[in-house]
Amino acid sequence: MLTILACLVVGIFAVGFVRRIGIFARCPAPLKIALTPAPTTTAGVAWRLCTEVLFFHSLFKGDRWAWFGGILFHGGLLLVLLRHLRYFVEPLPAWFAQVQMVGVVAGMVMVGGVGLLLLRRLGVDRVRHISAPADYLWLLLFLGLGTSGLLLRFGLRPDIVTIKTTMLNLWYYPQTLPLLLPGDFLFLGHLTMAAILLVLFPFSKLMHAGGLFFSPTRNQVDNPREKRHINPWAKG
Ligand code: HEM
Repeated sequence: MLTILACLVVGIFAVGFVRRIGIFARCPAPLKIALTPAPTTTAGVAWRLCTEVLFFHSLFKGDRWAWFGGILFHGGLLLVLLRHLRYFVEPLPAWFAQVQMVGVVAGMVMVGGVGLLLLRRLGVDRVRHISAPADYLWLLLFLGLGTSGLLLRFGLRPDIVTIKTTMLNLWYYPQTLPLLLPGDFLFLGHLTMAAILLVLFPFSKLMHAGGLFFSPTRNQVDNPREKRHINPWAKG
């Protein structure tokens, strides 16, 4: 049962993600609309995209609070997910055991970042005005994932050994998770939220994770005088 559900969840995420990236890639960019000041070479564009992905460069210029909350949240999430590899990989490299605490602190940073983003959405009039229910849903989902994760770490401990064995054997020996400890039920909530996240991801604004690379304002070279931009609709 757990195996079928896991296949469905991962399948919907993977197929949905690839399909949406295909749609983004095929979407024509009829106009030269690089956001200036923009790089005039392809290497410059690559660098610009790197600064967007690593430092959220344009967000920094546009909205410092969103930038600060965003950096805390995304940075924390990345490290948390790396730490989660320990549930899916065996054997783990020895150094991985040494950096576990970094992942736990990252969990707190992540929750702090989401909290800040939520406060901003609720507290800043012009942001609240343009917020849709889905904007709150994502923040609440990540808040739920983060707080339940921290509670699993510091409060109601689940049976980690059984969880890891179940995750590792999921593909070979389909089984259900034996629920014995109170923490196991909290873990089930944690897992359900992760599944909801994966299933809805391809249909949501979270696709900005891949969509960023296809934004014409960011990925175009600013060379309209050197090279004629031909509208793809005008070709053949
Ligand atoms: C995007 C999805 C997920 C997010 C954002 C997330 C977040 C977190 C956070 C912030 C923590 C506390 C810090 C830590 O111990 O690392 C945590 C703990 C935990 N997570 Fe997740 N999690 C996710 C998915 C999953 C999945 C799929 C599993 C399945 C194995 C899982 C299993 C656990 C367990 C067992 C703990 C307790 C750690 C411990 O006691 O050492 N999480 N999670």
